[in-house]
Amino acid sequence: MVPVFDPYDRPGVSVTAFAPGRVNLIGEHTDYNDGLALPFAIEQGVSVTATAIGGRLVEAVVVESGERDTFDPASTAAVPGWRAFVRGVAAELAGEGVELPGVRLEIAGTVPQGAGLSSSAALAVAASLALLAVAGKQPHDRVALARLCSRVENEWVGAHTGLLDQLASLFGEADRALRIDFRSLQLDPVALELGSFRLVALDSGESHALAESGYNDRREECAEACRRLGIASLREATMALAAELPDPLNRRVEHVVAENERVEQTVAALAAGELQAVGELLNDSHASLRDLYEVSTAEVERTRQTLCEEGAVGARIMGGGFGGSVLGLFPQDASPPAGATEVRPGPGARLLA
Ligand code: GLA
Repeated sequence: MVPVFDPYDRPGVSVTAFAPGRVNLIGEHTDYNDGLALPFAIEQGVSVTATAIGGRLVEAVVVESGERDTFDPASTAAVPGWRAFVRGVAAELAGEGVELPGVRLEIAGTVPQGAGLSSSAALAVAASLALLAVAGKQPHDRVALARLCSRVENEWVGAHTGLLDQLASLFGEADRALRIDFRSLQLDPVALELGSFRLVALDSGESHALAESGYNDRREECAEACRRLGIASLREATMALAAELPDPLNRRVEHVVAENERVEQTVAALAAGELQAVGELLNDSHASLRDLYEVSTAEVERTRQTLCEEGAVGARIMGGGFGGSVLGLFPQDASPPAGATEVRPGPGARLLA
């Protein structure tokens, strides 16, 4: 239990929050289309230690690089990079009536930035949990907190992303993936029993910033497809409806329709212990993201090729695309290439003792 205190009277109270990054097993570019996805929180993540220091300013420092930012939480000035996430979280919390004390935030991370493992969502989630705790407030509703962090990404950073990363970080569980239905926001834990197989992420080395990539264009294309088809979201789309659209909108819709089905097929394959079939679904997802959704790059293709040559039974681009990491599923008798990181499902965001 975090002690409740008067923020202006008791400087020095310190709390640490940890929020994991995520791997999305399958279900890519479906979240903002009211679709399905199957992510899991990973063991790597971001921790934020918040120490009340008196006064009203927030002083943030990235431990590894020494980069700093000092700001008034009421400020709405636009800033680039990691600072936008921290300022955005503080301002959104203040906007919801959370009285923030003057506070120092020390940020440390084990999840690489721009590698498609959601370092940014992890930073926003950890910062919000730490700030709430140091202000003496527990978040009652984690879905609302996910929305707040997503608003930060949309409005403060300019990436029109969905709720995938924040929900995975907040609701992750050890040994489980999370089937998310973004229409109802129903979250169902799914046992991730890989047997002798293992999942790895291999960074393509091509860093992506979603706000500047083609991500927002894809989102706009999906909205345009809905307008033309007269439907509220692509969850209502079918292959027949997709065929009524001009290229490339038809291919974008085909991807989303088939990707939702692949999520259900992956859940079924996992339940049946058919890991080879999971691998094939990962390969199908990748082909669709490359050819229909067009979010792959030459560097990502080379990275995937490396994973396949080393014996992955399935591999696919992960996250927003246009760079980032490639996920590979390896059987026991194959060794992932140098530089690949094994990714295992770990618990969701939490305060550390
Ligand atoms: C990024 C976004 C998510 C989601 C994925 C693609 O990770 O932050 O909201 O749209 O891309 O599935």
